[in-house]
Amino acid sequence: MLLEHNCAIEMRGITKRFGQVVANDSIDMRINRGEILALLGENGSGKTTLMNMLSGIYQPDEGEIYKDGERIFIRSPREAYGYGIGMIHQHYKLIEVFTAAQNIVLGLDDEKMDLRRTNEKVMEICSRYGFEVDPSRKVYDMSVSQKQTIEIIKVLYRGADILVLDEPTAVLTPQETQKLFKVLLNMKADGKAIVIITHKLHEVMEVSDKVAVLRKGKYIGTVNTSETDPQALTDMMVGHAVTLNIERPRYPEPKRKLVVENLTCVDNEGVRKLDRVSFEANTGEILGVAGISGSGQKELLEAITGLYPVKEGSIRFVRDDGSEAELVGMTPRRIRETGVGMAFVPEDRLGMGLVGSMGMTGNMMLRSWRNGRGAFLRKKEPEDLANGIWKELDVVTPSITYPVRRLSGGNVQKVLVGREIAGNPQVLMTAYAVRGLDINTSYTIYNLLTEQKMKGVAVLYVGEDLDVLIELADRILVLCGGQVAGCVDARSVTKEEIGLMMTQFNAKGAE
Ligand SMILES: Nc1ncnc2c1ncn2[C@@H]1O[C@H](COP(=O)(O)OP(=O)(O)O)[C@@H](O)[C@H]1O
Ligand SMILES: [Mg+2]
Repeated sequence: MLLEHNCAIEMRGITKRFGQVVANDSIDMRINRGEILALLGENGSGKTTLMNMLSGIYQPDEGEIYKDGERIFIRSPREAYGYGIGMIHQHYKLIEVFTAAQNIVLGLDDEKMDLRRTNEKVMEICSRYGFEVDPSRKVYDMSVSQKQTIEIIKVLYRGADILVLDEPTAVLTPQETQKLFKVLLNMKADGKAIVIITHKLHEVMEVSDKVAVLRKGKYIGTVNTSETDPQALTDMMVGHAVTLNIERPRYPEPKRKLVVENLTCVDNEGVRKLDRVSFEANTGEILGVAGISGSGQKELLEAITGLYPVKEGSIRFVRDDGSEAELVGMTPRRIRETGVGMAFVPEDRLGMGLVGSMGMTGNMMLRSWRNGRGAFLRKKEPEDLANGIWKELDVVTPSITYPVRRLSGGNVQKVLVGREIAGNPQVLMTAYAVRGLDINTSYTIYNLLTEQKMKGVAVLYVGEDLDVLIELADRILVLCGGQVAGCVDARSVTKEEIGLMMTQFNAKGAE
């Protein structure tokens, strides 16, 4: 095979499975020196997994990795450093009470070296690539952007010349992003090979030399940035619609059930997570919520359930008699006590959802206890309920008292969805309900949600798979950077249109 002279890493036929999920499916990809490669793909397309096989966190099930033409085996992050590969992860691994310099040398022989030498070496890296840091500053005193800088310096300090950054701009302001890009360009000029994972097409267009695209675990291709545009990249990313044949009956007369108006939420650091979001969710309807990760989906569901503080705006629950209850300012408990029937299947199934150490029965009890006045649950004993879900949803478990954390992802989700539905909610919210589930379990979940819709429930379905959203939902709300990019009829919209709304709106917002 003819290689470009600057090829640093070549991956051949890389496959990685998690249970039944094929996260990476026979991927062939190259990373060159003196270039910035953007790795693009929808949520769950396998970007992080692929790069974690370079950083030594995972080993491939199949396939080979070559560095400078020689086959290598990367068994740990330490070995990755040995090959000059360093990754800056989405979640930083710094020790808050340590200084920048202490964090940078942590775990190295240098740790014992005197601080002055370390500081000198850090300052040298800083001036070379254009970082601004104070090595003696404690991490807890730093902004997210500064913490990220420390992670990058840490990798450079260990001599990495192949750097992978996993969604580094997700946590940065536009100004901080520009600073990061300057640093990346300096590293590129220095001959380093750089991979940047991002969802933001305007960033890809701005900073990268090449773009590699993954879709549902498969490698679609690599193109030169100068020869492509956001439209073409979106097409590569989302592909042509695949027919899934999900049933989508129509409910006779949808009525308003939840009214959200000008909802604005701000996080601890003052960043607007939701910005004047307005929409309505109706009875007998699945309202899909689309958006690249971190566009405000999580905050939206949490704000509606009373878990996320609301800065401004209104969330109103419309009762059957047409009267409205304002939910803003209420705790989840207060919301339930007001007789508002809301159910929530969160992204974090064992944590926010179920208690992993308990069995199905225990988890049913937990909900009825929390429910206070759940009419359905008062009639039925938790044990009956657990038995019902076990049988009806085919939960694979040895018994209803077996700890749910030992069940497979699909079975955990069946228990959670089953329990939430048992409370006879009027609004049912789900976040990434089929993530990591096999095909059969996914269809079980789609059917359950559609059944609820046909009972007149207002279903909010936050999802990442556009094929599913287009076939399952009645309408789709598209979020972008915490704002509503649009709300469209799912029966007529195309995948490409949604893809563009998810990303292009962002580009406009940043200009
Ligand atoms: N540790 C894991 N265990 C089980 N499934 C996983 C794990 N990591 C990733 N996955 C699954 O592999 C797929 C690809 O995930 P990921 O590489 O994180 O995608 P991306 O970074 O593109 O969003 C997803 O379906 C995800 O749910
Ligand atoms: Mg990822």
